[in-house]
Amino acid sequence: METEIYHADTINQAAEKIKAGQLVAFPTETVYGLGADATNEAAVKKVYAAKGRPSDNPLIVTVADVATVEKYAQPLSAKTRQLMKTFWPGPLTLILTLQPGALSKSVTGGLKTAAFRNPKNQATLDLIRQAGVPIVGPSANTSGKPSPTEARHVYHDLKGKIAGILDDGPTQIGVESTVVDMSGTIPTILRPGGISEEQLAAVIGEVQSDHHKVGKTEVPKAPGMKYKHYAPNAQVLIVGDAQWPDAMAWASQQSGPVGIMTTEQIKKANSLPQNGEWYSLGEDVKTASHHLFAGLRHFDTESSVAYILAQGFDRIGLGEAYMNRLEKSAGQKYFQTPDK
Ligand code: TXA
Ligand code: MG
Repeated sequence: METEIYHADTINQAAEKIKAGQLVAFPTETVYGLGADATNEAAVKKVYAAKGRPSDNPLIVTVADVATVEKYAQPLSAKTRQLMKTFWPGPLTLILTLQPGALSKSVTGGLKTAAFRNPKNQATLDLIRQAGVPIVGPSANTSGKPSPTEARHVYHDLKGKIAGILDDGPTQIGVESTVVDMSGTIPTILRPGGISEEQLAAVIGEVQSDHHKVGKTEVPKAPGMKYKHYAPNAQVLIVGDAQWPDAMAWASQQSGPVGIMTTEQIKKANSLPQNGEWYSLGEDVKTASHHLFAGLRHFDTESSVAYILAQGFDRIGLGEAYMNRLEKSAGQKYFQTPDK
């Protein structure tokens, strides 16, 4: 299959492919998603096959408006409406209880709930409206690899397997949406993301966080969180700010090139080893989140390093999402200062 590239002026062609039950990757403010008609079971099944995604991992339903959510979900609570009003369109995915029989098992993984998201990207909102159906939207990467933040990342992973990619340039935020389960008594963050716990609490009060437990429990609430994720070929090691002099010295002793991902400030304060290949994370946790997945992919495709040293950030605000993704890509491995 030839994978076509669409732009803002050819959205109608992308919408035709969706209507015909084909797969089209689409841009969002977080990462690129892999779109298929959420009401067409055969189309949804193709998404799992293209990504190599386990079939028990449910998909996000991407919508252009709240009315579409109301068509499938049980009546929305006041808190759910407040969150939609404040953060939609935006990087917030809400898990809601479905009306019986709404949406197929291939979308929900057999759960009584589904994940709804209204992304802040005009091209994609137009695509959904022109297709006339909600579209499923997992990240448009091969399962296990870093999520795509540019159309060329999608092309690299899925060319020949999908009908097209709607290219709208690099995404802004760079890490995926916050997933909040609204189906229980207390709203629960299942995956930290573009909207922070502090931002949520400011609107709806009590919010709890379940993602620290995910991976350790048998049945994680967000099924996707138990799988290996975001892993480049190289071993990633997370480095705390005070460890950089030791980490640079360790890197210089390695026989091959070593990838180094830091902000400009860390680079200025520490001299890079000769075998160091630097990838800029910009200025702060916001730019670092924007560059994280692209950087990890860079070392897979344009370089060949055995190790990537990557800068850690404090787990506040967006830092929670950044560290969640970085820890997964590193398999929880931190750089250990050698004994002196
Ligand atoms: O920013 C994003 O959310 C991106 C863009 C493309 O929209 N999408 C994305 O989708 O990250 P995906 O499939 O890679 O991650 C969705 C997460 C998974 O961890 C999945 O297990 C969880 O949401 N999820 C989906 N439906 C669920 C449900 N009914 N209950 C609990 N977790 C659910
Ligand atoms: Mg994903």
